[in-house]
Amino acid sequence: MTCQYYTTPIYYVNAKPHLGHAYTSIAADVATRFKKMEGADTFFLTGTDEHGDKIVQAAEKENTTPKAYADKISKLFQDVLPLLNIENNHFIRTTDPGHIEVVKSVLATIYDKGDIYFSSYEGIYCFGCERFYQERELVDGKCPDHGTVPETIKESNYFFKMSKYQDWLIEHIETHPDFIRPEQYRKELLSFLKEPLEDLCISRPKTRLTWGITLPFDEDYVTYVWFDALVNYITALGYPDGDRFKKFWPTTRHFVAKDIIKPHGIYWPIMLKAAGIDIYNGLNVHGFWNVQGSKMSKSIGNVTDPVEVTGRFGVDAFRYFLMREMVFGLDANFTEDVIVARINSDLANDLGNLFSRVLSMNYKYFKGSIQGPAADSDKDLSLEPEATAALEAYTKAMAECRFHKALASVWELVSAMNKYIVANEPWALAKDPARTGDLGTVLYELLEGIRFVAGLIWPVMPETSGKIIAALGLELPEKGFFNLDAIRPWGQIPRGISLAKPQILFPRVDVEKKAVEPPAAKPLKPALKEEITIDDFSKIDLRAGKILSAERIEKSDKLLKLQVNLGTQTRQIVAGIGKSYTPEDVVGKEVIVVANLKPVKLMGELSEGMVLAASVKKNLVLSGFNGSPKPGCPIK
Ligand code: MSP
Repeated sequence: MTCQYYTTPIYYVNAKPHLGHAYTSIAADVATRFKKMEGADTFFLTGTDEHGDKIVQAAEKENTTPKAYADKISKLFQDVLPLLNIENNHFIRTTDPGHIEVVKSVLATIYDKGDIYFSSYEGIYCFGCERFYQERELVDGKCPDHGTVPETIKESNYFFKMSKYQDWLIEHIETHPDFIRPEQYRKELLSFLKEPLEDLCISRPKTRLTWGITLPFDEDYVTYVWFDALVNYITALGYPDGDRFKKFWPTTRHFVAKDIIKPHGIYWPIMLKAAGIDIYNGLNVHGFWNVQGSKMSKSIGNVTDPVEVTGRFGVDAFRYFLMREMVFGLDANFTEDVIVARINSDLANDLGNLFSRVLSMNYKYFKGSIQGPAADSDKDLSLEPEATAALEAYTKAMAECRFHKALASVWELVSAMNKYIVANEPWALAKDPARTGDLGTVLYELLEGIRFVAGLIWPVMPETSGKIIAALGLELPEKGFFNLDAIRPWGQIPRGISLAKPQILFPRVDVEKKAVEPPAAKPLKPALKEEITIDDFSKIDLRAGKILSAERIEKSDKLLKLQVNLGTQTRQIVAGIGKSYTPEDVVGKEVIVVANLKPVKLMGELSEGMVLAASVKKNLVLSGFNGSPKPGCPIK
């Protein structure tokens, strides 16, 4: 059986997960799911990168320790995975003791080999990137990523003899055309390697930084964060002796964006070579998501939260959009208009309408019962050639990580089916009793085409794929998807069974209704309730509360169990805010509590009160204060 190992970068824990992180993780998830459909044995790794200066600085800002801060943010990265339907096999943290041991052993091997030396060095250093720069890498004398002027620092440090391996690396890249994909990034790296490589400074003195892995050969230094981080890819498999390592290394393709091709394309293969470990199979490099035309940044305020977008549009729509909109390797732009347009045209209109039209016609003309093709049906009515062509094009594109192209191939089939309906006019066939056989054939061909689509979209939209398969009266294999070979044979939908009326797969997103606040001139929606007197109102005991802790209630995506401080007492309140907030979002929030509401049990949990929130379409926004009232004080 073929084995395939996919990884995402391990993300820094200095900020919450955003759209860019979500994209890489979803792309790697889609690629893994596709490999599973090909019958491969897969391993998919993601995780967090937790050492180094960046984390120390972020923790200091929050008045906490690097470890406590890393724990908190790493959990956010872990919690986001199921919300995005990402099925990783393992989540690695560079603070895991097992990882620390492996980093030390790799360093010791390379040191013993003589490829690490001690030297005094003066160079220009960007604290944001945590690395030394060469003059030629700067843009107008500034760090290309941070736009700041690097500082000149002089230190004694340990250096890794990268230069010794430069010729070997160039040859490796030249003789392995798939090592870096797409091609433009392979060329970029080769052109960078035309200049002499400088040796890599792999230590930081503890006088400057202690939050890192101590060098095995010098107690006074910690390991440079990249040398520590890259090793995660082998640690997670149980290097050196683990069965997983033996099975999955070096079948690896690392998913990364263009920002980190140098560490992955230069440091990492050279580290492996020096340590005597096989070189990984290759890198899949993608471009950057901009938001509203600009790089995501806190100061612009356009850092996009994937949980929020998923909450509004649904996880499958979000995954589809990301995979369909970005040409893998190039940059793409995220705006609300673009995602809404894609959902309405590709999902609600093309696929959703096709599905509901075909099932509705089958319901209307045959009471849902599947007739199957008539024995003497016209061969020209077959949709099998279109479906097979889509499957071939899709498979080729997916294997090359051209997700947008793979989806476009499936949508060609969708569009061919929509045209087929127009050309064959089932409504006209239904009026002619002599052509009932043809009508049965036409609808059966369409149902089969839809089965193909459902099978092929599984890596990108697993929920929708399952919904369609179930609506076609088919059973999914236990593993939850069909292998590519199992999709191929035409004519699998059983004849004679009855299908229910179709459900709506993707509701259209009404752009008008997207506004968070209704425009002032329009009447309030929903309509105001009947008037009450001040006496009526005074029956409600509203109090200021502060949320002390929060957790999700199992089996509910809506309910959070909150412990709320009301001054003299702590109340447990079950709130239906789980689709709009994660537990981490709400801890510490000051909220308005209805304190005299009769206690009830929700999903088996006692709820003693209610927190107030504004209902903005499907989203809830918690009420709060302009100030910090003491918990328990009455609200009048
Ligand atoms: N910790 C290092 C990686 C170590 S891997 C051994 C790191 N972390 S990061 O948090 O900065 O993540 C960078 C990665 O996040 C990018 O390579 C990419 O996968 C993803 N993205 C971050 N911003 C992005 C966009 N705006 N667009 C697309 N992906 C981006 O670097």
